[in-house]
Amino acid sequence: MRQKTLIALTLFALLVSSMSIARSAFAVNKVIGSKQCSDSNCHKSIFDQMLFHPHESFFNKDFEEKGKKIAQKMNVKDHFDDKKCAQCHTTLVDSKYPKVPDEEKGLFGIICETCHNPAEDWVELHDKKGKVEEAVKNGMRNTRNLYAWAKDCFACHRGAKEEYFKAGHRPGDKFDLIKYSQGDFKHWVWSKKEKEEGNLDAKLMEKLGKIWITGEVFQAQTSAMRISEASGSGEFTSKNHAMLVAALKNLEVVEKSIPSDNLRKIIDAGKKVTPDPATAKAVVEEIKKLANSYVGDLDKSPIGAGKISAFPIPGENEYIRKKK
Ligand code: HEC
Ligand code: HEC
Ligand code: HEC
Repeated sequence: MRQKTLIALTLFALLVSSMSIARSAFAVNKVIGSKQCSDSNCHKSIFDQMLFHPHESFFNKDFEEKGKKIAQKMNVKDHFDDKKCAQCHTTLVDSKYPKVPDEEKGLFGIICETCHNPAEDWVELHDKKGKVEEAVKNGMRNTRNLYAWAKDCFACHRGAKEEYFKAGHRPGDKFDLIKYSQGDFKHWVWSKKEKEEGNLDAKLMEKLGKIWITGEVFQAQTSAMRISEASGSGEFTSKNHAMLVAALKNLEVVEKSIPSDNLRKIIDAGKKVTPDPATAKAVVEEIKKLANSYVGDLDKSPIGAGKISAFPIPGENEYIRKKK
């Protein structure tokens, strides 16, 4: 049994590392589960918020009904067990999923470690005074690295390819990085240092501005990627093309206000894409490279509240679901 689990985990790790905008090497064997994060009471409120979040809905009845229909069309026998679904809907691949009791849901869906990285090597360090950097060296995700965390969101949220769409899966067209990462998902707080320095309104504006620009760049990049892999100019391609065009329009506004060679090149390359996979194939690698360096640089210097207020940024609290 143990061995079977290990094989499954290894396969999963290989699979995740080969995903298209791959989440960087994800050491599944170092996942400790979220119970420890909440048991100590340190993160109980984040844990409770997480249990209520759709990130855990893989185990709901409603999901099961919808999921079964999609799975059937894709010849997936058991969506709980099959990598084709579990790679995005859970953190570990293990046959015990169907029996997960309610109180344990939060340990298997999209959990703390899915986003903050497997914790075995850093959990003991990260809450010790002055040890945060060491924890990051040992694998903890630096939450101030906007590029790295946004890349994760997009790998799942805009990662479903045409074959999923054809089987009835959503194309990810609702994913908006501000709406989805703030609102009732939001669980970050200002650090003591940031509070002491003051000026929190301007800091928030700066943060939202950068999240928004990053989201639009990834939206353009992933749309081009999905088009490049598609089989032709069908509905999936045209949906992705519409998302690409919308993102480019927003990026034009950014480029006017904060001129940048890399961003200009991203927009120009994106405009060459039509609802024809061949046009996307020709530019997708270039867009990926440019986006990587553009978003990486974005984090390094301030934009300024004046400029950001001109961008069509959604409110940070536009996305609050009603509690059931
Ligand atoms: C690349 C990642 C990825 C893969 C692979 C994937 N999903 Fe999803 N799935 C998502 C995301 C992200 C959402 C949420 C979509 C949103 O909010 O726009 C979702 C939503 C769903 C929903 C809810 C739809 C609704 O309308 O409420 C179902 C059901 C579902 N997926 C089933 C499946 C099944 C079955 C498979 C395997 C055949 C699968 N998914 C594979 C990422 C994925
Ligand atoms: C879907 C991904 C995701 C999940 C699941 C998740 N987080 Fe987060 N978390 C993030 C991101 C992204 C940030 C940074 C957000 C920002 O700054 O806007 C963050 C920020 C944090 C912070 C604040 C760190 C700081 O520097 O301010 C803590 C603490 C935290 N998460 C703990 C947890 C715990 C504990 C869990 C599980 C109960 C959890 N997170 C689940 C993505 C996630
Ligand atoms: C491992 C894959 C994965 C990662 C990484 C991930 N998500 Fe998700 N997320 C999902 C899936 C799957 C769903 C849909 C669950 C469902 O509907 O059953 C979802 C749903 C959501 C929803 C609820 C959408 C709705 O329809 O109400 C929000 C909000 C969200 N994710 C935000 C984020 C943010 C922000 C990040 C990055 C910090 C992120 N997610 C990273 C897989 C992921």
